Amino acid sequence: MPSQKCCLTPLSGILLLALAVHQATAVQSPLTALPVSLNNDSSFNFDLLNMLSLASYDGADTGDVLSAANIIQPMNMTSYSDTFYQLAVARQAEASAANSKISAQSLNFAAASYYRRADFYLHSNWSDPLINTYWDNQTTCFNEAIATLNVPGQRVTIPADGFDTIGIFYGHGDANIRRPTLLVGTGYDGSQEDLLHGYGFEALKRGWNVMTYEGPGQPTVRRTQGLGFRPDWEKVVSPAVDYLVNNRTDVDVDKLALMGVSLGGYLAARAAAFEPRFKALVLDGGVWSFFDGLTNYLPPQLMDIFYAGNQTEFDDILNEVVVNNVTAPTEVRWGIQQGLWSFNTHSPYELIKMTEAYAVANITQLIKIPTFVAQSSDDTSFPGQGTKVANAIGPLAYLHNFTGPAAYHCQAGAYWQANQVYFNWLEGTLNVTNGISWYQ
Ligand SMILES: *[C@@H]1O[C@H](CO)[C@@H](O)[C@H](O)[C@H]1NC(C)=O
Ligand SMILES: *[C@@H]1O[C@H](CO)[C@@H](O)[C@H](O)[C@H]1NC(C)=O
Ligand SMILES: *[C@@H]1O[C@H](CO)[C@@H](O)[C@H](O)[C@H]1NC(C)=O
Ligand SMILES: *[C@@H]1O[C@H](CO)[C@@H](O)[C@H](O)[C@H]1NC(C)=O
Ligand SMILES: *[C@@H]1O[C@H](CO)[C@@H](O)[C@H](O)[C@H]1NC(C)=O
Ligand SMILES: *[C@@H]1O[C@H](CO)[C@@H](O)[C@H](O)[C@H]1NC(C)=O
Ligand SMILES: *[C@@H]1O[C@H](CO)[C@@H](O)[C@H](O)[C@H]1NC(C)=O
Ligand SMILES: *[C@@H]1O[C@H](CO)[C@@H](O)[C@H](O)[C@H]1NC(C)=O
Ligand SMILES: *[C@@H]1O[C@H](CO)[C@@H](O)[C@H](O)[C@H]1NC(C)=O
Repeated sequence: MPSQKCCLTPLSGILLLALAVHQATAVQSPLTALPVSLNNDSSFNFDLLNMLSLASYDGADTGDVLSAANIIQPMNMTSYSDTFYQLAVARQAEASAANSKISAQSLNFAAASYYRRADFYLHSNWSDPLINTYWDNQTTCFNEAIATLNVPGQRVTIPADGFDTIGIFYGHGDANIRRPTLLVGTGYDGSQEDLLHGYGFEALKRGWNVMTYEGPGQPTVRRTQGLGFRPDWEKVVSPAVDYLVNNRTDVDVDKLALMGVSLGGYLAARAAAFEPRFKALVLDGGVWSFFDGLTNYLPPQLMDIFYAGNQTEFDDILNEVVVNNVTAPTEVRWGIQQGLWSFNTHSPYELIKMTEAYAVANITQLIKIPTFVAQSSDDTSFPGQGTKVANAIGPLAYLHNFTGPAAYHCQAGAYWQANQVYFNWLEGTLNVTNGISWYQ
């Protein structure tokens, strides 16, 4: 199209400027605007907003995240990794040098978060030794930090169906007071360490116990047990419930809630459908079909090859167009790379085939407990799926539409706000009245 710049009179130029100013002022409400973009790469922006959220809960510093955002190059995953690695090393060194136990704890928490970010975009090359090195480093820092909490976090290895569920229990140290307890798990790419900051400290602040956990496909089970995701997630969760119910004297089994974050919105729904001991369920957000979510990003011509069942052709094309294409959008490229790693396959076709089983249409009728279903209005991973899940669950479901500052998938950037909503619902639903606040 020829440029029209030549034809603008000075007057129309002023008019356009006035219109632009008018539009800029017309849409502005902080209750409806999205958070400011921290990077032109939408995937990096999303991850940086998550990191910024951790700053509300002792998992990062706003200044560190904003300085990282300032230098990370869009579409350059190495740049993302290197930037956070530098922050991690610096904060870890400061932790080691600190005299104050509390300074060391906070610096170790931040260093651990930054090591996790350094790892996040590295999963395309399974032989890259940094995948394990950075994870070891985050574990070292995180374990040092939780060991110095007022009541130290306890790592627990729970034998499950031919593998171990790995949990971390955070309580209040009074073995004979039974407290409401939240079991919370993440999804496709998060970690249970993130969850302590994301939801755990809020739970502890309110007098709850919290246990985070991981199963196949997730950071340590994938690394140390070599297992990719499996859809029958009750096999992961029920052994953790056995532990909470049978091995602990500080868990109130009548106030036991399960929460699932991101793809965890499927995993938790599946677990709750087959595990009767929960009294409330939180899906952040609702996941109707993982297959729909993942393939949303792929062009229809490519999906035609998938449906035709030609695995070799599909894999060759997807590898060329997405997986190995440095100019493909990070969201899509990383999305497939992470899936291959976490589902433990080198074939994109197999990955997408496997995701078909991660759907709730057949199991919502088995969910018999009050269920909070999050729908975030700008969720690009599972757009509109929360509404479908809530409709299928019916009267037991409470659908909440997060918008504006909390509009992104999993309310990236707005964990604080989201937690006020989640725990308000949980406390009301489970009739929890013994809340305490650290700040009182
Ligand atoms: C984002 O892209 C716009 C348009 O290309 C550019 O002006 C801006 O400087 C970029 N911002 C960052 C943070 O890279
Ligand atoms: C990506 O970022 C790294 C710095 O972490 C830099 O060395 C590399 O040249 C960048 N790659 C491209 C293609 O710009
Ligand atoms: C993957 O990592 C290994 C170990 O660092 C390296 O030897 C290999 O060249 C890498 N492969 C690719 C495709 O970058
Ligand atoms: C990071 O982990 C690697 C592998 O376990 C280890 O050799 C290295 O010393 C660790 N680095 C730091 C700073 O702890
Ligand atoms: C739970 O208690 C049983 C029975 O005492 C014990 O065998 C098991 O190891 C405990 N589980 C964990 C994860 O501590
Ligand atoms: C799969 O696609 C490849 C490449 O287009 C083609 O050579 C092969 O014949 C196809 N296989 C089948 C079973 O259709
Ligand atoms: C790589 O991705 C870009 C952006 O999606 C696309 O325009 C280009 O055709 C892709 N390259 C190949 C070889 O498919
Ligand atoms: C749901 O049930 C239908 C009918 O039994 C079956 O064909 C389909 O494979 C099931 N879907 C999943 C995801 O289990
Ligand atoms: C959620 O809120 C947004 C913004 O107000 C609105 O556009 C959207 O329709 C709402 N979605 C649902 C499911 O209520």
